[in-house]
Amino acid sequence: MQISSSLFSSYSLRDVTFPNRIVVAPMQMYRARQDGKLTDWHFQHYAKWASGGFGTIMTEALMVDPVGRNTYGDLGIWDDAHIEPLRRLADYLHEQGRVAAAQLHHAGPKASRQRPWEGLGPLGEAEAARGERGWQPVSSVSARTIDGWNLPRELSQDEIKGLVRKYGQAARRVHQAGFDVLDIHAAHGYLLHSFLSPIANTRDDAYGGDIHGRMRFLLEVVEAVRSEWPAGKPLFVRISCVDRRKDIDTEQDGWVIEDSIVLARELAARGVDLIDCSSGGIRAENSGMDYVKKRQPVRKGHQVPYAEAIRSQTGIPTMAVGAIIDGPQAERIIASGQADLVAIGRQALRDPHWALNAAHSLGVDPDWSLWPPSYGWWLALREKIGVVD
Ligand SMILES: Cc1cc2nc3c(=O)[nH]c(=O)nc-3n(C[C@H](O)[C@H](O)[C@H](O)COP(=O)(O)O)c2cc1C
Repeated sequence: MQISSSLFSSYSLRDVTFPNRIVVAPMQMYRARQDGKLTDWHFQHYAKWASGGFGTIMTEALMVDPVGRNTYGDLGIWDDAHIEPLRRLADYLHEQGRVAAAQLHHAGPKASRQRPWEGLGPLGEAEAARGERGWQPVSSVSARTIDGWNLPRELSQDEIKGLVRKYGQAARRVHQAGFDVLDIHAAHGYLLHSFLSPIANTRDDAYGGDIHGRMRFLLEVVEAVRSEWPAGKPLFVRISCVDRRKDIDTEQDGWVIEDSIVLARELAARGVDLIDCSSGGIRAENSGMDYVKKRQPVRKGHQVPYAEAIRSQTGIPTMAVGAIIDGPQAERIIASGQADLVAIGRQALRDPHWALNAAHSLGVDPDWSLWPPSYGWWLALREKIGVVD
């Protein structure tokens, strides 16, 4: 018997219909060449999830400016040359009946780093010797995220305006590549978050001060993006709903959920359709790499309450992300109205067929008919016959 499911129900925003509520979370692979172009490796990496039943496949962060790259392996969207390989991917995702989503990003103070498996530290002499010379990152203010990392330079107001234009141009390129959904990354201590958070942003000009000053850069970015991104296509913004840190000088909490609610309303007023609800990542004074590497264990669905709070208090759709591990957990999040979409990160790396397995375990797809027939026919037959020890 087929069971009905909220997780596998379709959903619409603007002119886009999401075939189910499951989204592949944006995940940087740090595997691009220095030109930032999507390669065949990336193509097969995303293609797996299209046949794995995910309704929406979101690219990893695409960098709007080379200065904003985390690493030399980042994918780019700063040049028209990036459009063509992305178009090939979007065409394939559409052919498979999937929604193609992309994320825009600038790493700000966290730029110019080693890849995670190389240590995550600043680029040094060894990297320079193999052609990966470090550069000075930019941020809201000149302060390091982590002791020992690069000291960023404070952006001038003219440079901020220039970056706003770059986000707009990047949105135009993603549209030209044929993508359906755009997500602006304003979380995890990167450039836009470094302006939002009172822990990081101590500027005293129009881009600092109270929450309205600190939101200004992101809101200008959203306006520039929305003016290039067609009215029929949904726009998401990923935020850190809470900093989960205190300012070491004032002992005040940083960015809190009430701030996210103010921000969500401002974003929606400028044409943002959904808040992608993450948390954390802001500056950690007096802490070195141990802070990054020795994180606390997280609870299953630890960020879902943020998606729920924003959705219930503003009526704006949300996406939940973070330690969403299995189908029943994801089903409960959607069925109980905590979020409209769920994003799956590391479990999707572990199991490219996560969504199809969730459908089967929830009883939504008892006869394996959502699977590609060349897989599903065999899996159905094996189940009918049975396997014994
Ligand atoms: C390998 C990897 C790369 C990531 N890259 C990005 C990224 O490009 N943009 C982003 O917003 N978050 C990024 N994240 C965070 C994920 O999108 C997600 O929020 C986080 O992994 C929590 O979800 P999970 O517990 O399902 O993995 C990355 C996470 C991982 C594991």
